[in-house]
Amino acid sequence: MCGIMGYVGELNAVQIVYKGLEKLEYRGYDSVGIAYKDNFTVTIAKEKGRVMDLAPFVKNKSSDLAIGHTRWATHGEPNQQNAHPHCSNQNQFILVHNGIIENYQKLKVEYLSGYSFKSQTDTEIIVNLIEYFALTMPINEAIRKTMSLLEGSYACLVLDKKNLNCIYFFCDKNPLLLGIGKNGIALSSDITGLVGVADQYIVLEDKTFGIAYLNRYSLYDLIGLKINVKPKPILVTAADIDKKTFHHFMLKEIYEQPMMIRSILHKYFIGDEENISMKLLNKIRKCDKINIVACGTSMYAGMMAKYFFEKLCFMPAEVFCASELIYSTPLISKRPFFIFYSQSGETADVLAVMKKVKKQKFPMLAITNNVESSMGRLTDFCLDIYAGKEIAVASTKAYTAMIVVSAILARAISGIKTNLKSNLKGVSLAMEKVLHNKEICLGIAKELTDASDAFYIGRGIDYWVSLEGALKLKEISYIHTEAFPSGELKHGPIALIHKDTPVIAIITQEGTNRIIRSNLTETISRGAKGFVISSKSLSLPEDTFVIPNVAHYLSPLVSAIVVQLIAYYTALLKHNDIDKPKNLAKCVTVE
Ligand code: AGP
Ligand code: GLU
Repeated sequence: MCGIMGYVGELNAVQIVYKGLEKLEYRGYDSVGIAYKDNFTVTIAKEKGRVMDLAPFVKNKSSDLAIGHTRWATHGEPNQQNAHPHCSNQNQFILVHNGIIENYQKLKVEYLSGYSFKSQTDTEIIVNLIEYFALTMPINEAIRKTMSLLEGSYACLVLDKKNLNCIYFFCDKNPLLLGIGKNGIALSSDITGLVGVADQYIVLEDKTFGIAYLNRYSLYDLIGLKINVKPKPILVTAADIDKKTFHHFMLKEIYEQPMMIRSILHKYFIGDEENISMKLLNKIRKCDKINIVACGTSMYAGMMAKYFFEKLCFMPAEVFCASELIYSTPLISKRPFFIFYSQSGETADVLAVMKKVKKQKFPMLAITNNVESSMGRLTDFCLDIYAGKEIAVASTKAYTAMIVVSAILARAISGIKTNLKSNLKGVSLAMEKVLHNKEICLGIAKELTDASDAFYIGRGIDYWVSLEGALKLKEISYIHTEAFPSGELKHGPIALIHKDTPVIAIITQEGTNRIIRSNLTETISRGAKGFVISSKSLSLPEDTFVIPNVAHYLSPLVSAIVVQLIAYYTALLKHNDIDKPKNLAKCVTVE
């Protein structure tokens, strides 16, 4: 989950790593640390807290070699002791690690009985194993030997005090990118860390070991054979990862959605024809069931995709929560097709299912915002959602982008020429109108700030947006929020309604309009504070937010903006850290 960053070169490595950690902080932010070459030794600074807490330690410091880490604790509480970098017993090796070592207890007993440990992390085992094996073999071999014993996931950078002109690095199942610049070599958990430092990059394959020097690098596989990979140009610019005039990335990303839809249309349509490979379409057409697998917001986008596949292509589809699917064996049809949704393309729960599906040789597609991610590399087919970099931990534009790409895919599979393209243009205009009326969401947020619980209700596709609305609100406002199919309320959840409990109903479908309103009234009769988000054609004068009419099956794309803004303003009024909510991380690389 964490961010790791390293640099060796002619520029100031301390500042590059510090700035890189700032950009990677969205990946984990409970503690931070840096190690840099300081004359003939290494200076380490680490702190519980945010990257900015490291500022006093790195001010005016310079070096040509540094590594750094911003942590999302998995083993051991977030404190200074557990913060990375970690040192080996003899202080020869210094290491930062992203991931989890599942067999660290076993390795500790088997190899490191005489060693003492200063932290509760699994990471400290890695650095000590390297030191242990380096007693009897060259460092390259010691690292590869260590890699061969580790079970779990890791991306690591290592400094060796006896050879302070290079960074050793190795990874498996956790992302690590090598950036090649004019003045040096950088290593980062994602491309944002490389922007401005390198012009070209390589996404390292699993089980790669490498060494980076000031002006060269080498990559090896686990048995020590040299690997040659052609670097690609870095196309992300500083402007792409800039907050611009917005106070938060989340608000910027909410605002980007109308434009993003236009650019997705541009990418996925040539005239009125979808620009999607025939091979993929035919593969899906041949299947007897589509299995959708994802987590969190991406799973909720997957629910809309199910609706499209069933309604537009008449194909059965089922949505699975990845972390559940991996430990259950559902009945698989004779000719299944799997679609994995993931913004980051690195979510461990989803990856675990993908690997299982791959083993069984079932065809699969990944729909992701990161086509070069682990998922992008593992899958048979990949569709880019073209949402642009999403930095806020609470996902917004990736959700709507996944829904848009799914609608286009469903149309392409069905081969039926609907007016989806013009309907989506209509959606982007409707989104703009919602953004124009954002003050209404601020008004709703004011009514929510003091609530301890809140509820979203809907039916059918309005229920699925309700799930997303509830997730957004709980993630960043910390108000306990649940979404219910409105018909389910009286089967239990209505017992939770008390005076002034906020209940937000989403009503965009004609067939369920009256019944959701009745269900909302039932809660209001029991003291709830009711709010209605409705489509114009179904609206009543007293409704709270009336959204413009769009093609009925695309209305979730518009009501999504309202629920995102409600969450945003509620968190803002509560003075929460909107882009980096507590306990969360953007990229969930542990199961
Ligand atoms: C969204 O706001 C959340 N932060 C989270 O639910 C996220 O969608 C989930 O972790 C899946 O991530 P992915 O799309 O990168 O796989
Ligand atoms: N497992 C390591 C720890 O708890 C690394 C966690 C991370 O990836 O941030 O420190």
